[in-house]
Amino acid sequence: MSGASADLVAALAALRAEAEALIGAATERDVLQRLRTDYLGRKAGRVTAILRDLTSLDIEARKAVGQAANEAKAAIEALLETADAALAARAHASSADLTMPARQAFRGALHPVTLVVDEICDIFRDLGFTRVTGPEAETEQYNFTKLNFPPGHPALDLHDTMYLGPGTLLRTHTSPVQVRTLEAYPPPIRVTIPGLCYRRDAWDASHAPVFSQIEGLVVDEGVSFVDLKAAIGYFARRFFAPGVKVRFRPSFFPFTEPSAEVDVECQICHGAGCPVCKGTGWSEIMGAGMVDPAVFEACGVDAERFTGYAFGMGPGRIAMQRYGLSDIRMLYDADVRLHAQFVEAR
Ligand code: PHE
Repeated sequence: MSGASADLVAALAALRAEAEALIGAATERDVLQRLRTDYLGRKAGRVTAILRDLTSLDIEARKAVGQAANEAKAAIEALLETADAALAARAHASSADLTMPARQAFRGALHPVTLVVDEICDIFRDLGFTRVTGPEAETEQYNFTKLNFPPGHPALDLHDTMYLGPGTLLRTHTSPVQVRTLEAYPPPIRVTIPGLCYRRDAWDASHAPVFSQIEGLVVDEGVSFVDLKAAIGYFARRFFAPGVKVRFRPSFFPFTEPSAEVDVECQICHGAGCPVCKGTGWSEIMGAGMVDPAVFEACGVDAERFTGYAFGMGPGRIAMQRYGLSDIRMLYDADVRLHAQFVEAR
């Protein structure tokens, strides 16, 4: 290589190093544009100028310098591209307007009764209960007969029961699933049975013709009323408050003996009396009792060997207590403003 061509190759290396430093330091896209013209511009570019000088060299030297110049050009070009892309990306990112209001996103919410049903079943799951379900369209056999309702019982009346056809109806309670469970599984049994029930009740502040129930059924050797009271007490303390007052009032159901109705201290007025508890200071949350041996017999369970208890709760009433609602119809209005309040509550 001649002295002249060696000088040119060295000059190219110096130009390339200089360009690299300037490109690296550039913080504006305009600066990069100017550097491009300075180094690679077709008329006055400094690399271009060196290529122009080649005419005075011999063929070997021309080749060597030409190659070095092309490499320098390509390298500077590549650096300019990368730097420009980086600055463009940064400019784009910082052009986001952080004060722009977010687009409204609609967030779904579970119905308050669904929340209560899940919470109740979760508490009983800790006591070993399994959650099961059964059909809403039932037969008179399962809804009444096998549950020891005598023929002609007033509940069978058209005024209370929605009949689908002769002998078929919409279940008036979840108790027929007690029968289905007893027929399907041998004891020991511990189940919760949530579901919808239907009665020809007129709408008012505390009645609806479609409502939720949660049935509970426990069957084993040696199960007593003490076990029933203990389970209900445990549930009430966990669901309402550790010190909540619970009372059992004697009652009657054809499928339990003895039977009771269970009240908790009204969670809205704390016993003082208010429209929701109709001034009594108590709120009725379930019916309960010891499974009548006649039910075991109707389901083929040995009534000499096994005893059991059952309960039927009203999650609608319980949701009213939990969320301080004064009218059960609020649970049926499908007003998302009501539901949305309980998203955070859980
Ligand atoms: N099935 C009864 C009702 O709907 C409630 C209940 C269930 C009572 C289980 C006792 C035992 O009123």
